[in-house]
Amino acid sequence: MASALNPSADGAHGLRHWQGDALVVGCGGIGRALMAELGRRAPGLTLWAASRQGWCPGPEDPATGIRSVALDLTDDSSLERFALALEPLRSSLRLVINTAGLLHQSGLQPEKRLRQVNRQALEQLFAVNAYGPLLLAQAVEPLLSRSEPVLFASLSARVGSIGDNQLGGWYGYRAAKAAQNQFLRCLALEWKRRLPLACVSLLHPGTTETPLTAPFRASVPAERLFSPERAASQLLDVLEVQGPEQSGRFLAWNGAEIPW
Ligand SMILES: NC(=O)c1ccc[n+]([C@@H]2O[C@H](COP(=O)([O-])OP(=O)(O)OC[C@H]3O[C@@H](n4cnc5c(N)ncnc54)[C@H](OP(=O)(O)O)[C@@H]3O)[C@@H](O)[C@H]2O)c1
Repeated sequence: MASALNPSADGAHGLRHWQGDALVVGCGGIGRALMAELGRRAPGLTLWAASRQGWCPGPEDPATGIRSVALDLTDDSSLERFALALEPLRSSLRLVINTAGLLHQSGLQPEKRLRQVNRQALEQLFAVNAYGPLLLAQAVEPLLSRSEPVLFASLSARVGSIGDNQLGGWYGYRAAKAAQNQFLRCLALEWKRRLPLACVSLLHPGTTETPLTAPFRASVPAERLFSPERAASQLLDVLEVQGPEQSGRFLAWNGAEIPW
């Protein structure tokens, strides 16, 4: 069988050969679309969905056999229960995609100027967008296969790029995504030594029509706004050609590297 992570041998659809378990964290717009697309592309992977509700509304067909597990990334005891519940996946977990993220919620809006910054909102944004992915990696590390390629991807955002920041604003969300990028870059370097077949990727999905962007997309031209299905398909195209040599990169939906 061709290597699942060798694009030249396998084209852009290496996941079709993978066997084992795959976990998607977050059942929002992109998370649900990723599960549906993984169901089509990776028939050998058993899909697990982690969400605060403990069930994932609608990826779509009960026949897909998606299994659900509860997880609140901001709660240590939830992370502990989640790790215990996934213990049967030890050595068979091959793919983890974190899609959980927070930009706004009731009482929390992205800041337009300094006077709108407040400590509690910053802490919430960092808890989900920055600490969450790192603590997720800590929880799943013992479950990851050491003998087969593993992909650990987390959704970041181009607005988390410090080098690319020309507009300002959105202090907390931008900084939390930048912090995630640094955390997972460190993780990629650690896993190069400890899990040499693993690849850690930070992915920007492009502006996508989900609840996260609902209040902010009026001015986005239609051709720059992706459906969740298109975003999921593009993200998996990028992910499928990542391997240990590419670990620690910050990539856009089209595979282009984004400056840190
Ligand atoms: N959509 C875009 O244009 C865009 C652009 C750039 C980056 N991103 C990033 O892409 C990712 C997915 O975004 P999306 O557009 O799919 O957003 P979404 O529809 O709002 O989904 C976000 C998900 O995060 C989950 N979440 C929030 N707090 C959590 C917590 N404490 N523990 C576990 N899960 C939690 C939510 O779960 P509940 O269902 O329980 O609330 C929700 O399912 C996010 O990281 C976002 O920052 C999105």
